[in-house]
Amino acid sequence: MSAHIIDGKAFAEKVRHQVAADVTLLKNNHNIIPGLAVVLVGEDPASQVYVRNKHKQTLEAGMKSFVHTFSAETDQTTLLALVDQLNNDPAVHGILVQLPLPNQIDENAVINAIAPEKDVDGFHVINSGLLATGGEGMVPCTPLGCLLMLKDHFNGNLSGKNAVVIGRSNIVGKPMAQLLLNESCTVTITHSRTADLPAEVRRADIVVAAVGRPEMVQGDWLKEGAVVIDVGINRIPAPERGEGKFRLVGDVNFDEASKTASAITPVPGGVGPMTIACLLRNTVTAACRQAGITLS
Ligand code: GUN
Repeated sequence: MSAHIIDGKAFAEKVRHQVAADVTLLKNNHNIIPGLAVVLVGEDPASQVYVRNKHKQTLEAGMKSFVHTFSAETDQTTLLALVDQLNNDPAVHGILVQLPLPNQIDENAVINAIAPEKDVDGFHVINSGLLATGGEGMVPCTPLGCLLMLKDHFNGNLSGKNAVVIGRSNIVGKPMAQLLLNESCTVTITHSRTADLPAEVRRADIVVAAVGRPEMVQGDWLKEGAVVIDVGINRIPAPERGEGKFRLVGDVNFDEASKTASAITPVPGGVGPMTIACLLRNTVTAACRQAGITLS
């Protein structure tokens, strides 16, 4: 079998078009322009790229973008003061503090200082609690993007599927598992201490790999016809492209896996583009909720 390649880039473009249409409605009918504030501390090159892309795509969707950058030496008090200011700014409907933060700053303290209704990352304890108890909060962007692609692939119905999530991070693994559980999947969360990972993966109709280990998931770990969502973005040396060159690979051995899987997301061009699209979608959702508006 040769797997269907799930085109995250095309899907993200569709989501962004819908967001832009919603933004136009909010402007024309309610005089609201959704605003997203992104906070970057330090000079981590990957974070700088992410923040630049977020800024560009926020503007392209017709929204306001506010980027706040700080040096790596910034202290927690300064950051908390900015979060407080953004919480109270009516032009800001969504706040995202780019992670990781430097060691002198307690990430949880900053995340939990964000007003939950403006927490477009969905990382605040109130939002993770709402996700776990079936309430209406903000849902983390990467798992939300994975879920939208899975629901699209399965025509909206994931009920009864065996889903295996590899990785237990607060950003992806844990919220992903909650989302799949809410869709009535039978969910297994695996991690670095899982006794027999290949055996767990072999039982899965749906595999979501989010461990950050290049090409760890092998083709012969998969059940015939499994649907594979690869969240990993790993830069590995590619001497075949020339000296000092790199290429991006996922957490799944794509060439092998696509012989056994029925569908798989590529890296790049799979989950990655969906994350920012979902961030924009969350910002519109946040703006609507703050104004008490329901868009049809
Ligand atoms: N760093 C890596 N992924 C993310 C994310 O989804 N949100 C934030 N805020 N930081 C990140």
